[in-house]
Amino acid sequence: MILLTDKSKEKIEALIAKMTLEEKVGQLNQLSPSIVGGFDVPFEELIEMVTEGRISQDEFNQILSNAEMDYKEEDIRSGRISSFLLNNPQKANELQKIAVEESRLGIPLIFGFDIIHGHNTVFPIPLAEACSWDETLFKKTARVAAYEARRAGINWTFAPMLDISRDARWGRISESAGEDPYLASRYGLAKVKGYQVPDEENTAYIASCLKHFAAYGAAESGQDYNSVSLAESLLQNVYLKPFKGSVEAGAATVMASFNDINGIPCTSNQKLLRKTLKEDFGFEGFVVSDANAIRETIIHGYAHDGADAAVKAIKAGLDMDMGTSTYINQLPELVTSGKVSLSELDEAVRRILTIKMQLDLFDKPYVDESLMTEGPIVSDKNRKLALEAAEKSIVLLKNKGILPLSVDAKVALVGKLADMKSEVLGAWALAGKEKDCISIRDGFDALGVSYNYGECVGPTGDFDEATFRSLTEGIDTVVAVVGELSSMSGEASSRADISLPGQQEQMLKKAVELGKKVVVLLMNGRPMAIPWIKEHADAVVELWQLGIEHGNAAARVIYGYTNPTGKLCVTFPSMTGQCPRYYNHFSTGRPAGKGKFTSRYLDAPIEDLFPFGFGLSYTEYEYSDLRVQQTKDNIQVKVLLKNTGNRSGVETVQVYMRDCFASLVRPVKELVSFKKVFLESKEETQLSFQIPLEQLGFYDNDGNYLKEDGSFIFYVGGSSVDCLEEEIGVCF
Ligand code: BGC
Repeated sequence: MILLTDKSKEKIEALIAKMTLEEKVGQLNQLSPSIVGGFDVPFEELIEMVTEGRISQDEFNQILSNAEMDYKEEDIRSGRISSFLLNNPQKANELQKIAVEESRLGIPLIFGFDIIHGHNTVFPIPLAEACSWDETLFKKTARVAAYEARRAGINWTFAPMLDISRDARWGRISESAGEDPYLASRYGLAKVKGYQVPDEENTAYIASCLKHFAAYGAAESGQDYNSVSLAESLLQNVYLKPFKGSVEAGAATVMASFNDINGIPCTSNQKLLRKTLKEDFGFEGFVVSDANAIRETIIHGYAHDGADAAVKAIKAGLDMDMGTSTYINQLPELVTSGKVSLSELDEAVRRILTIKMQLDLFDKPYVDESLMTEGPIVSDKNRKLALEAAEKSIVLLKNKGILPLSVDAKVALVGKLADMKSEVLGAWALAGKEKDCISIRDGFDALGVSYNYGECVGPTGDFDEATFRSLTEGIDTVVAVVGELSSMSGEASSRADISLPGQQEQMLKKAVELGKKVVVLLMNGRPMAIPWIKEHADAVVELWQLGIEHGNAAARVIYGYTNPTGKLCVTFPSMTGQCPRYYNHFSTGRPAGKGKFTSRYLDAPIEDLFPFGFGLSYTEYEYSDLRVQQTKDNIQVKVLLKNTGNRSGVETVQVYMRDCFASLVRPVKELVSFKKVFLESKEETQLSFQIPLEQLGFYDNDGNYLKEDGSFIFYVGGSSVDCLEEEIGVCF
């Protein structure tokens, strides 16, 4: 995005001075599409139809690109509309022309769309990509998304989602960077830069939108949209942390979340939006509501009618109304009667115009026609990046020496998911096309390996034992692709049981009973409770939903062309009942142990099924010689890392800390730094980390940031549980 000069700022003020009350309110109004022509259904229902499989992803795309908007041209002409949700460049230019050439002040429209993990080139779902712990990759995939968005007439994406997700039941965990605030902060920063900052190779940029502000992922019992009760310290130290960093890095917009925090809906939460975000974090962009959320504060029981909803939202600092027309219908009267001040309205208008100006929409309002026709929709170069991203997102969870498979191995590939192309896209790939997707079968075929394939069972439906038996006869290795349909995670897709759905486990049990070696490939949008698989499978590979290159990446890892490097960005619990389960919990006075009176369940193990930060490789690493010392402004951590195995690899070295004693109970471990390191076989290197002393502090419940002297333990290792450790005294 471009930096504004004093002249552009003056231009904004001059515009505001000229605007009528109605034009000002119009700048706060965003419309979502309502589809006409054969499918006369609202957008939300259309999303439901695709997630429930009533229409295919391709049909959905087709409808979207033919979509006509439920708008009156006159509304654009009279300046009553500021923004549309749209993915159609021709349409965008048509609408823009009315705004720019036919409205009184010529203020351009801004087109937003959900580009969550790539646009045409669909990359791994965020939960998967975060397992790469690779900031360069996070940025590169966002750069490609920015380019493809601009080509489609989109100026603004509703991403990145920075909701800390500690509860695997919550469907939207798939859209998040996982459970850790530090990793999510680095993910957020890279994404904001990727979307917003042009470079020599790719000059496109779009506005990002940090969402959902705030603590949406802390929904009670993992149920979507549910209430959130949080202590201020937890809100600040965990849930707001990734937002703060990304705001400081210049994120253009923020989306308020659907949920309430301690009884106040975020949409109307003055303390959260006006005080914390705008005043304390210094956020200068604009805040958009989530879809229909302003009107929903009435259903929430917080506003008694439309006028009350509008007053509460605008006073809270909510600048743009997504989809409900509450602002456009209510604000003119509210301002005239003095219930909302003109300066409150002007502030919102100023923020929205500033972002439009930073996007250069006043000077370049249209999509370049040449971009619309330029090259194939998914270029070879972008597909290559999609493969790199997919490979780096895979996490090897177990390997009893069976992987990599030899290309000559006699293999039976089973599971419906292995052949369902569009399932690789995940739940939020609105522009993804089935024809661009590589299924696991396609990936095996591309490598030229021979295998028998049978569907046998999917996430829904019955296990076809007869086919399974005949298919696997005389074959010792079964590669079973199991997991969830992509519609089983994402928005409004929480699950109260996160074990393997349907009869898939029956198939795995049959394979073990028949004496087969079993390689389990998981496709899912959340951590799953799969203790039986962990115990009985010979290998377990977490593929998630890897985007268009899913099948190629999976095949290349399984057959050893690529050495897996992914590390979990979320904890896998053993049972659903342990949710929310996360590594950076507080210590109790009776930590989990063998004794009866300790903090544990009678019917579940103490250890996580797979811990945060965990992921195997085809090589092995040894950590030694940890040294920790305080310097003037930092904690310096040094460690020796050796690749002791027989092939080269990339290890993600993780540094954690524990504040042993503080005026508020602190987490048992917190990630404070990490690095990815490439080592040849037998190569050794010394690594050094500088952790700023500032990072050792924490917020108390009155919003003060405290730095307290005392003992800290620093841990270094290849996962959150497998670490060397050293305790030191720290003085600030
Ligand atoms: C989601 C947002 C999304 C918006 C617009 C809402 O239902 O919560 O994440 O950006 O729709 O599509």
